Amino acid sequence: MTLRKASGGSMELDECTINPGYQDAEDGGSSADPGERNQDLAEEYTQIKPYAGMPKEVLLLYSSQARYRVPREILFWLIVACTLALVALTVTVIALSPRCLSWWQASPVYQVYPCSFRDSDGDGVGDLKGIQEQLHHFEYLNIKSVWISPFYRSPMKDFGYDVEDFRAIDPLFGTMLDFEELLAEMHNKGLKLIMDFIPNHTSDRHRWFNLSRTGDPHYKDYYVWTDCNATAPKPNNWVSIFGNSSWTYDDLRGQCYLHQFLKEQPDLNFRNPHVRQEIIDIIHFWLGKGVDGFRMDAVKHILEAEHLRNEPQVDPKQPPEDVTTEWDLYHDYTTSQLGLHDMLREWRAEMDIYSREPGRYRFMVTESYDYHEVEKTMMYYGTPQVKESDFPFNFYLLDLPQNPSGMWVKHLVHLWMGNMPKGQWPNWVVGNHDRSRIASSAGQIYVRVINMLLLTLPGTPTTYYGEEIGMENIHVTDSQILDPAGKYNSSASRDPQRSPMQWSDDINAGFNTKSNITWLPVHPDYSSVNVEVQKKEPGSVLAQYRFLSTLRQSELPLHRGWFCYVHADANVFSYLRELEGLGRAFLMVLNFGKESAITDLSSIRELPDQLKVLMSTKQVNSGKVLQKSHIPTEVGEGLLIQYSTHTRFNPTHPDQCYVSEKACYLSAVDILYKC
Ligand code: GLC
Ligand code: MG
Repeated sequence: MTLRKASGGSMELDECTINPGYQDAEDGGSSADPGERNQDLAEEYTQIKPYAGMPKEVLLLYSSQARYRVPREILFWLIVACTLALVALTVTVIALSPRCLSWWQASPVYQVYPCSFRDSDGDGVGDLKGIQEQLHHFEYLNIKSVWISPFYRSPMKDFGYDVEDFRAIDPLFGTMLDFEELLAEMHNKGLKLIMDFIPNHTSDRHRWFNLSRTGDPHYKDYYVWTDCNATAPKPNNWVSIFGNSSWTYDDLRGQCYLHQFLKEQPDLNFRNPHVRQEIIDIIHFWLGKGVDGFRMDAVKHILEAEHLRNEPQVDPKQPPEDVTTEWDLYHDYTTSQLGLHDMLREWRAEMDIYSREPGRYRFMVTESYDYHEVEKTMMYYGTPQVKESDFPFNFYLLDLPQNPSGMWVKHLVHLWMGNMPKGQWPNWVVGNHDRSRIASSAGQIYVRVINMLLLTLPGTPTTYYGEEIGMENIHVTDSQILDPAGKYNSSASRDPQRSPMQWSDDINAGFNTKSNITWLPVHPDYSSVNVEVQKKEPGSVLAQYRFLSTLRQSELPLHRGWFCYVHADANVFSYLRELEGLGRAFLMVLNFGKESAITDLSSIRELPDQLKVLMSTKQVNSGKVLQKSHIPTEVGEGLLIQYSTHTRFNPTHPDQCYVSEKACYLSAVDILYKC
């Protein structure tokens, strides 16, 4: 190795870092006195800057000098202090941050009825490939969660709600490969797939039922069987939801089996631990495939009382032989039995095993129509200690058309908000495959204001396919009825709300392009009510839906702020959405009545005197500036008003306001924190 003078005057080590002038003391160095030796070394190396290749002694010599030691110590303690500060900051941020909204809270849930959404192969019935072809529609609407009604193998007596094999796809809808491709493609696009899960019953063609009928020792108690009189098979007065006795005599077994729905849908016996395990295995099967959640069908019917006593009649004077519909009895022994919630909580726990994967929360929503017994519905939220569903469907807004008025809508909204357990997340349903389309039952005039309500209330909105364009029921003549519920009672037919989705003004409304058949007729209004046409019209139902769904996602007050009632009268329902610390809030003024109205909100101190309409469902009124004492709305008009404020309404009106989880906004650093 040679030392050479670099151009800048300093010395550089050439070739390698071995220093032949250095001999380690342990190697038998010649100098006896270490002090003297250090001195020599120091002199020898004064020309060399302290860096790599320097012998230990020299290094020690330099490193103990104050000018190196002090900065080193300062740096050391600085690093310690910074690390501690960072840990403290992280802990504080975690402790102060409100929970992030999960995917099922962040966007509406869109319901696809697979028979009717899009037919890819031209057999007249929608299918999984068809859904995949239309995924861009969800992206366009800013929808992340899609619930698809059942597509399991089924004889289709109840259009898929009668399952023959819980682990197979019905050929009508495609193959398992089609399903896997659909799911993968949805996940690629950031969409979540919620499956329908039907635990209460199977099809009578299910293998379990056949084995049960023949008395197979393992399967004989898979269903609810009882002795009965073959000629008058009514072991008690229980009735099916679709009408008439819920018991059917089976020749082969010589006993009656229970079916709370069709006779082709025998009820499973959940008192049998093998049945409970089968259901859990099926839950695992689909979660293992990657589905993001389940809509649990007809859960209140899962257990029945074992004593099989008659249910009390609503009208005790009604002759017992006339008791044939679900409305004739109090369902004390066939619904909401003890043990039901334990079972759902167990399923929830199974789902949570899969929720531990990062970003893969598995969602559960339950379906239970409890009508006036709202407290029964609320039980599906679980308790603060034990989780159950993320929310039970809220069906109260389905009653909106009964009496459209501001007060009525407030009453329906309050049925949920006033009864929901603290801290839980609300949701809103205005239509599904079982109920008349709201555009038909309420009237076209209210379609936009209903969508505006849905998308500006707190919680998750649910949209049944076609509601985003204001689709209406079709007319189905009695002889055309396909729905089993309609065959029993034509006014209960669900065919009218299941007509093919209206994509365009092409043949069959673009539902299928390969043939001219559709399983139910297309609505005749399809040439004007369809996705393609409405995409081109800025004021269309579709355009307004899209605007509101996007706004809901981007605006903190709308997706996680306070919800406060402001006003309700015969026409108008008004509420506001605000968030502590945020300078802007939203006021909604929605006219559900039968007359146009002028609303005076001058008594609401927190509102500025002048209010600018960000969006009106009547496009001409968007952008108008109104006095708060004089807010005009026409029938079916909804106003979304954005205003600036530093005074919140909720602190002074706690009884009129709700929030699922309180959060405040810190504008200086643009963050949300618990407050
Ligand atoms: C649920 C479904 C309905 C079905 C019934 C029986 O209520 O929504 O369509 O007929 O369960 O499974
Ligand atoms: Mg049952």
